[in-house]
Amino acid sequence: MSDELGDIPSRTLPVSARAPGKCIVFGEHAVVHGAPELVFAVDLMTQVFVTAGSATRLNSDDDAVRRNAYFRAALEASWKGGRPVEVRAISRIPKSAGLGSSAAFVASVAAAFGAATGGVGRPALAQRSFEIERAAQGVGSPGDTSTVVAGGFVAVNGGTGEPLWTVQTPDRRWEVRRVNDPGWVWVVAYSGITRSTADAVRAVSARLAAPGGPALLEEFRQVATEGITAVGRGDRAAVATLLRRNQELLREVGVSHPRLEALIEAAAPAAEGAKLTGAGAGGSIVALPMPGKEAELVRRLARAGALPFVVRPAPIGVTLLER
Ligand code: MEV
Repeated sequence: MSDELGDIPSRTLPVSARAPGKCIVFGEHAVVHGAPELVFAVDLMTQVFVTAGSATRLNSDDDAVRRNAYFRAALEASWKGGRPVEVRAISRIPKSAGLGSSAAFVASVAAAFGAATGGVGRPALAQRSFEIERAAQGVGSPGDTSTVVAGGFVAVNGGTGEPLWTVQTPDRRWEVRRVNDPGWVWVVAYSGITRSTADAVRAVSARLAAPGGPALLEEFRQVATEGITAVGRGDRAAVATLLRRNQELLREVGVSHPRLEALIEAAAPAAEGAKLTGAGAGGSIVALPMPGKEAELVRRLARAGALPFVVRPAPIGVTLLER
């Protein structure tokens, strides 16, 4: 096991942890139904600071346990019977934008709680983070949480790279593997339209269960399988074509949005390929910039009304911070 995939060690409170966001390159939605997915951890971070308190609060909110389903689920899963804790969270990841703000929050809180309760192995942390996210959200796959725990590029249910761990639910088992990072710069751009992941996942599940659904799922599977191979071998032309094909499928299952289509169009002169990323129905797009046109791409997306970020894969997943 490499250092960056080491366990979360035991620490006494106060504990601080940091986790990256995520960007799905291929296979969102289909992964919920067992198809492959390719995701990378983005270098936009969430940081939490956990300390003993007189009451359990999040960012000074006394009512957070009732109001925040992710916080509540994290306490139930990994702070059972624990003393009151004060959690402060700060994040550069826009919320409900498809860029992993909830996965990063969940993984960093679970890592901090894990450290304060004797330490936790990374595979167990990936499983726990998924259970917390799923308890809060009701639906979904472990792609987001495993990526922010692992860092770098990971494939869920696909690829041939180093196996990292498996995540288990009563009805399904997901395999998580490492994928080689080709070292490219990516641009993600938030449309400003927030949406509910759970609603989008339920709508796509209904579409995939309707006539023609299984054939569509098979196409998602093929695109992601080819995409994982293409990214792993650094084949930009193939990746660009597959980004476009994946976007067509996402449009067909109803999770694109006129704003996302407008951003993809605005990106076209400076991007080799682009698609929505995450649950869609709003949220963000990911684009592979033409080499040397990164700044032009950012300008185009900003002019079209989005909030763009130039991102690189964050090689290290959730980690504790030194005091
Ligand atoms: C959300 O970031 C990705 C989805 O595939 C849902 C999931 O995998 O949990 C839409």
